[in-house]
Amino acid sequence: MSIPFITAEEAAAIIKNGDTVATSGFTASGTPKVVTVALAERARALHEKGEPFKINLFTGASTNDHVDGELARANAIAKRTPYQSHKDCRSLVNSTDGISYFDAHLSHLSQDLRYGFYGDIDVAIIEVTEMSPNGEVILGAGLGMAPTIAHLAKKVIIEYSSYYHNSFRGFHDNYIPLDPPNRREIPIYRPSDRIGSTVLKIDPKKIVGVVPSNASESIKPFTAPDELTQRIGDNICRFLVDQLRKGEIPKEFLPIQSGVGNVANAVLYGLGENPEIPRFEMYTEVIQDAVMALMEEGKCRFASTCSLTFSDDAMLHFMENIDFFRDKVLMRPGEISNSPEVVRRLGLIAMNTALEADIYGNVNSTHVLGTKMMNGIGGSADFSRNAYLSIFSCPSIQKGGKISTIVPMVSHVDHSEHSVKIIATEQGVADLRGLDPIQRAQTMIENCVHPMYKELMWDYLKIACKNGGHTPHDLRAAFAFHEALMEKGDMSLVDFAEYDK
Ligand code: COA
Repeated sequence: MSIPFITAEEAAAIIKNGDTVATSGFTASGTPKVVTVALAERARALHEKGEPFKINLFTGASTNDHVDGELARANAIAKRTPYQSHKDCRSLVNSTDGISYFDAHLSHLSQDLRYGFYGDIDVAIIEVTEMSPNGEVILGAGLGMAPTIAHLAKKVIIEYSSYYHNSFRGFHDNYIPLDPPNRREIPIYRPSDRIGSTVLKIDPKKIVGVVPSNASESIKPFTAPDELTQRIGDNICRFLVDQLRKGEIPKEFLPIQSGVGNVANAVLYGLGENPEIPRFEMYTEVIQDAVMALMEEGKCRFASTCSLTFSDDAMLHFMENIDFFRDKVLMRPGEISNSPEVVRRLGLIAMNTALEADIYGNVNSTHVLGTKMMNGIGGSADFSRNAYLSIFSCPSIQKGGKISTIVPMVSHVDHSEHSVKIIATEQGVADLRGLDPIQRAQTMIENCVHPMYKELMWDYLKIACKNGGHTPHDLRAAFAFHEALMEKGDMSLVDFAEYDK
């Protein structure tokens, strides 16, 4: 059967008010680039006529301005999950009458959709880079939930990207696990194990049209490590080398998962430069520019990922040298790249970022002052809960010292003390394994807290310990830092004297 080419506007017209729309892609790469822009335009036009138009938007992870930015500015999103990081979307997520957002583990959403927890998928928008008339497609630079949504959606709109001048054929491993009670193990025993298909088969009867696109991923380059991120990276590298020397990490090393962002990049550069760290593999959800460089230097042997989150320049470099990377990179759906089962089996060294951590090792990755959503939990808990070594890092202070990121009690918990093994700041590393709560607090204060907050933190622990208990707290004072920030604009202006009675 022939599948028609249609315009982005014609594709947008297929989507109805109230529809649930799911897209391909992950951390921007592989997400739609033209249909959602036309959809935002349509929403604006309908709103001007006084007609309602909003969709529920489900994606693999964060998207680009073409999706979350455009649709948020057009006020066209009713419900959103599982992860967003665009400022316009975030601001609606944080307003009471804006977007109804629920934060979800990235490994969960595909299976939750198959279980039927969130209703039907009306339309899937899937970016592809090759396609045959029988519905077999080669996906692009990011998968996200593409296999599941292609299977579940009532209608599929294809965005056919001609941006990539070399073929992605062979880089994807499309796979959908059977659901309970029939689920078997996901048979990945090494990061490079291929378990699925290079092509994704979509029922051609469901494909309502193909929209041409030639847009890039529009991912900005990451800033080079500065002194602060470099110090955090160095601390983590020193810690890992020490673990290797002690034999607590096997001499072959273990696969690495690394979050996005500048600290993650600094750690990877640090690992690359350290002669004591052997060549390693990655089992992770995104690879950034730093990983490509490590592969070319021979330090990173292989990376299993859900997306290639490369800046535009780096992506062009990847394309020009694509044959070099063909046997070194595999892209998988998010539920496989982040599968807790596989993470536990492979024994990952997981490195993620915290907004704040408390003296007992609980981590908040998502909520500023316990209330304002930043991005979402993303894949951080998929990895950290199940890793061999779970490391969280952040600078010890923010906003010129007005915020201590190490606090008596986190204002929101994403990763509990039971999942968090190591915390690193530019001050040092707290290895919390095997420590009781008071020992944890002492180690955190000694190793991770910024000098300008150390005495205050010891004051808090002293007050808390007066109450006794296994995990000492003074519930009147536990949020005194946050209160000082809200009332005086500076956590260091906290006054514990009133609690020390
Ligand atoms: N209280 C208040 N504000 C804080 C804060 C705190 N404890 N910690 C950081 N901030 C502010 C910073 O000052 C900065 O503000 P600005 O934008 O006005 O400059 C902003 O929050 C971002 O801080 P930054 O240090 O630049 O964060 P980042 O880019 O390294 O991202 C996370 C940190 C936690 C938001 C990010 O890693 C994330 O979303 N994590 C969850 C998802 C995840 O881990 N995925 C897994 C793997 S990809």
